[in-house]
Amino acid sequence: MPNPEILIVGGMMPLVRDSLADSFATHDLPADDEAEILLNTVGDKIRGMASSPARRIDSELIDRLPELEIIANYGVGFDNVDVAHAAARNIIVTNTPDVLTEEVADSAIGLTIMTVRELSAAERWLRAGNWKKHYPLTRGTLRGKRMGIFGLGRIGRAIAQRAQAMGMEVCYHNRTRVRDVPYPYISSLRELATHCDILMCAAPGGEATRGLINAEIFQALGPEGTFINIGRGSTVDEAALVTALQDRTIMAAGLDVFENEPHVPPELLSMDHVVLLPHVASASVHTRNAMAQLLVDNLTNWFVNGSPLTPIAETPWTAA
Ligand code: NAP
Ligand code: 8YV
Repeated sequence: MPNPEILIVGGMMPLVRDSLADSFATHDLPADDEAEILLNTVGDKIRGMASSPARRIDSELIDRLPELEIIANYGVGFDNVDVAHAAARNIIVTNTPDVLTEEVADSAIGLTIMTVRELSAAERWLRAGNWKKHYPLTRGTLRGKRMGIFGLGRIGRAIAQRAQAMGMEVCYHNRTRVRDVPYPYISSLRELATHCDILMCAAPGGEATRGLINAEIFQALGPEGTFINIGRGSTVDEAALVTALQDRTIMAAGLDVFENEPHVPPELLSMDHVVLLPHVASASVHTRNAMAQLLVDNLTNWFVNGSPLTPIAETPWTAA
């Protein structure tokens, strides 16, 4: 039997490309008009897809692939994939949970410290030759502070453990209360923001969370509050965030993710009380390799054994 045909969509690590090429016939979907030519040529043979969160996998693309069985996404977040449409077509969607949790939690804490203690601004100060003028003492500190986690899932829990170990109090909000954690559950996002000093977003993107962190939430967080986003940019009303930082409704923000990546609002670029990272929370060789391997293993297991390793909950698959 010929090797199954796999479509690679979006930037992908060499490890994924090389491993897939060993067992499958692979095709790269071009980002330009050439995509049409490829889809017309091989679209009806494609049985699997390796997708990157940088590209939207919409119903139109899915429907160009009548034999598609599985979409293996390179990331734990899958808001780039129209999962409802995939499910309606009986197509499995897999993601890369757990293997990135600790790395992302480390980054979340790093970003928190950088933001609250102004470490990037202090470094810029030194590089500009200002050491002798003494960098001002920071208003922000983690001493005696409470972190409110929006999205206490795998990553949220790992952040909570670290925050607690550093002496912070932790509370959280999810749609559903988590039974096996010691942290107080706060029944709304607004109350969570009122109740904490550092609002940490570790929730998924997608329609259910779109724009939930808005002007009202920043008002509730208040002028001594810090906002950190390690989840998805779409969860935040970015224009409201810019305003909240400009008029000091909140003290500071640390952002790894943005509404319309790679676009970063120019107003943010010129502010010193914001730390900006280019979506790098999982971006170590160690962790990206583990994510890549899990993507490959999902496709291999599907085509060899007929089961995915890490199907998302919304996908048409019930473990035996
Ligand atoms: P997870 O285990 O599924 O946790 C997600 C948590 O968010 C759950 O506790 C869930 O609880 C909560 N949640 C979901 N929808 C919600 C809503 N509408 N309102 C309130 N809470 C909601 O996922 P994870 O592995 O921790 O990953 C979380 C997210 O982090 C990913 O989806 C991804 O977007 C982001 N991420 C970012 C990076 C990066 O590089 N910056 C890296 C990895 C992941 P309920 O279902 O009970 O509400
Ligand atoms: C990666 C992520 O940046 O897993 C996710 O949801 O956002 C990150 O780990 C991304 O998946 C790789 O492009």
